[in-house]
Amino acid sequence: MRILFLTTAHNSLSQRLWIELCERGHDIRVCIAAAPEAMIDAVARETPDFILAPMLKIAIPEEILSRHLCLIVHPGIKGDRGPSSLDWAIANGEKHWGVTILEAAAEFDAGAIWASHEFALPGDAVTKSSLYRDQVTEAALRGVLEAIARIESGESRSGAWQPQKLADAAPMARGRLRPPMRQADRTIDWSRDKTAAIVRKIRAADSAPGVLATLLLGQTCFLYGAHEEDRLQGSPGQILAQRDGAICIGTIDGAVWISHLKAKEEADGAFNPTVGVKLPAAQVLGPLLRSVPKASLPIDAPADHRTFREIVYTEEADVGYLSFDFYNGAMSTSQCTRLRDAFLHARSRPTRVIVLLGGADFWSNGIHLNVIEASPDPAAESWHNIHAMDDLIFEVLNTMSHLVIAGLRGNAGAGGAMMALAADRVFARSGIVLNPHYRSMGDLYGSEYWTYALPRRVGQKRAQELTLSCKPIGARTACEIGFLDDAFGENAVAFVAELKERAKRLAQDPEFRAMLRRKHERRLDDESVKPLAVYRAEELERMRVNFFGPDPAYHEARRRFVFKGNPQPRGGRVPVLAAAEGTSWFPARAAARAGARVPSAP
Ligand code: COA
Repeated sequence: MRILFLTTAHNSLSQRLWIELCERGHDIRVCIAAAPEAMIDAVARETPDFILAPMLKIAIPEEILSRHLCLIVHPGIKGDRGPSSLDWAIANGEKHWGVTILEAAAEFDAGAIWASHEFALPGDAVTKSSLYRDQVTEAALRGVLEAIARIESGESRSGAWQPQKLADAAPMARGRLRPPMRQADRTIDWSRDKTAAIVRKIRAADSAPGVLATLLLGQTCFLYGAHEEDRLQGSPGQILAQRDGAICIGTIDGAVWISHLKAKEEADGAFNPTVGVKLPAAQVLGPLLRSVPKASLPIDAPADHRTFREIVYTEEADVGYLSFDFYNGAMSTSQCTRLRDAFLHARSRPTRVIVLLGGADFWSNGIHLNVIEASPDPAAESWHNIHAMDDLIFEVLNTMSHLVIAGLRGNAGAGGAMMALAADRVFARSGIVLNPHYRSMGDLYGSEYWTYALPRRVGQKRAQELTLSCKPIGARTACEIGFLDDAFGENAVAFVAELKERAKRLAQDPEFRAMLRRKHERRLDDESVKPLAVYRAEELERMRVNFFGPDPAYHEARRRFVFKGNPQPRGGRVPVLAAAEGTSWFPARAAARAGARVPSAP
């Protein structure tokens, strides 16, 4: 069938539906519906069999509704209506929630119901965006497939089956019309709210719009990335400690970590690159945290209490597990450096296999565009960040003492997707979406040794297609083309359980030493054909032009991405090519730093 997506953003849910429906042979067209006219034009142009709105924030014009079947993906249970469904579900501590596929009608979310699927909400408050990317996406897919089956079978057209009218469903349904959730509904009362309530409020607003609060330091910010802390204690509202860019704030019954802040506009309107950008809390508060103690925690500290930890290392049998749960999968220079150190620690252990687990929501999305945007010199920070990323990946590629598995629990994009290919085995949860390309970020060339690792897996031709077409791919296709070795697990829990089994089997395989030897020989062969340092230098030469060259496309695209299409002026600063020549990050020197070293096998 020819299906037109009308969507405010071709986001993870929309991409997942696109992948699944294309794989089933449907012809999908996507219209980013910014205005009614764009929708009317797209419908006239594409002449779809029906229209699907995976995530639409504006109404579909009557002129379309009267002529076409339009189905809406609504992230709520039967009977639920309003734009803050997930916010209310989390804030109210619902045990079950769901997704309903509705026929679009003049009144928002009040059309007939085509399908509805429920799921259990995790016991601990989950973030809204995490829920959206995982349970909501899976339920939406089931509902959309069910609706399409009804359309294809002709039963809806013939009248053999009728969608349920809201008025008929409402008396039996738990859902109801709820107002938009406002900041007044989200306000934290530090003198009354317990830690769990604060975490719940912030997670119901994460990743957008965040909870507006005035910190005791006087700064008014939106709060994101909340984690309970059950050891540190202090006055409610007071900043007690900092760790890896996050701040710990006292509550009436303990404390809460806040990993990210977005500063509100300053009254004097003076340019401050951190205002309006969601950033690690320490980058927003800067010198205000000078006297706040650092509460560092080793990566292998026992998981015996609730706290905030980005990088965690554990061991089971002969396997080391390294998870790196970076907010939004974005990896800043310091996060890459810490992860590289953690990886070196894992490699120094007497285990046989290292499993890189990424984060629960995202495996990785590459360099940290927000941190770069807010830095005093975005071009130089981009340069530092890509080097730190490459330094990490270089170590993974050059690991001869262990077999390395990448276990993708969540989606991966750009350099983050390429990073997975440095491992010896690449496994993913069945439902993930991969975006292994850079071009849409202002024609960014990309590094992360992708010119070595991607063709090695999928061949030159396919590598070109993937990086030039800029299309998302699903786990099934990724397995078929060799990007992934396998995909399994209906959800993250099932995926990790199976992953651990496979890692254990690999570590115990009688062929383990032979596998290690073959890996070493292959690396030496590859190195003799073309050293890793040359791949890196060639990639970075292209990146240098992206960052410091006369064409500002990357800087403009990054700004649009960070400010969601409404870029703020940066005082007219234009990075120039010459700026890089004098720095210690000049690629020729970078290549020398990376070296052509291949450690020997055990
Ligand atoms: N740096 C900073 N933030 C990033 C990021 C990055 N590299 N990649 C994603 N994010 C953030 C988004 O801004 C968004 O933030 P918010 O929800 O807090 O506002 C969140 O992660 C989710 O991203 P979103 O784009 O909504 O998710 P998606 O599933 O629709 O799309 C990607 C996924 C990977 C296609 C898209 O996020 C993307 O293009 N990211 C940039 C990748 C990139 O170019 N990296 C640099 C080169 S290595």
